[in-house]
Amino acid sequence: MQTGSENPAIAQERLFDFATMAASDRAKLLLATVIPRPIAWIVSMNLNGQLNAAPFSFFNAFAVDPPIVGIGIGSHEPGLPHAPKRPKDTRRNIRDTGQFVINLVSEEMARAMSITAIEFGPQVSELSEAGVETVPSVYVSPPRIAGCPVAMECELMQIVNLGTDTGLVLGRVLAMHIREDAILDPGRHYIDAAKMKLIGRMHGSWYTRTADTFQMSRIAREDWKAYLSG
Ligand SMILES: Cc1cc2nc3c(=O)[nH]c(=O)nc-3n(C[C@H](O)[C@H](O)[C@H](O)COP(=O)(O)O)c2cc1C
Repeated sequence: MQTGSENPAIAQERLFDFATMAASDRAKLLLATVIPRPIAWIVSMNLNGQLNAAPFSFFNAFAVDPPIVGIGIGSHEPGLPHAPKRPKDTRRNIRDTGQFVINLVSEEMARAMSITAIEFGPQVSELSEAGVETVPSVYVSPPRIAGCPVAMECELMQIVNLGTDTGLVLGRVLAMHIREDAILDPGRHYIDAAKMKLIGRMHGSWYTRTADTFQMSRIAREDWKAYLSG
């Protein structure tokens, strides 16, 4: 449905009613509009101690006290028709062990990250296929990925089931490792965001760099009148 307006300030637009749309079409709109999305490159471990790595861009931070991050993790399509979907290995591992590490992805690590998204069989280690090394964590069993500018050691807080296919994993950040050259002032906890060269996920196979920034100060209420008058 196309909607218009007499008001020239309101552009022509189209309504997409989610109630009448297929899930795959809703996905296209959500993934192409909620952009850019940060990428959580998650290392987890199964109950046998086998490591797993995969990227997830339904990811953000939601609270600082307690320090909570969230990741929406789906399911794998079943191999056989009518078979139930199975949770992605990352979600199953986090549910089983309660621990994981989120690595943030820089431009240099982008290629390796995308290799770990290949749906390899359970015997294949995504980390060795991608040629990345790991460094032991301090508080949790899964290690972090060497070379990432930031890694967060996390423990599971809660998994909120979203429908039958997806789980929103809420995790508490126990500790962060930040590459030394990206820290401006460790005492004040000031970070040089540009140095991290983090990437974000756009639609389809598109990604974005985070270097194109601009500054806009927050306006205090007492400054608002002066701001208007120029
Ligand atoms: C950049 C990127 C972001 C992704 N984001 C998600 C996501 O938010 N949720 C999800 O379920 N899958 C996401 N995927 C797909 C998973 O990474 C992929 O299904 C992976 O094989 C899951 O691995 P696992 O079964 O070892 O956990 C993403 C893939 C890429 C390349």
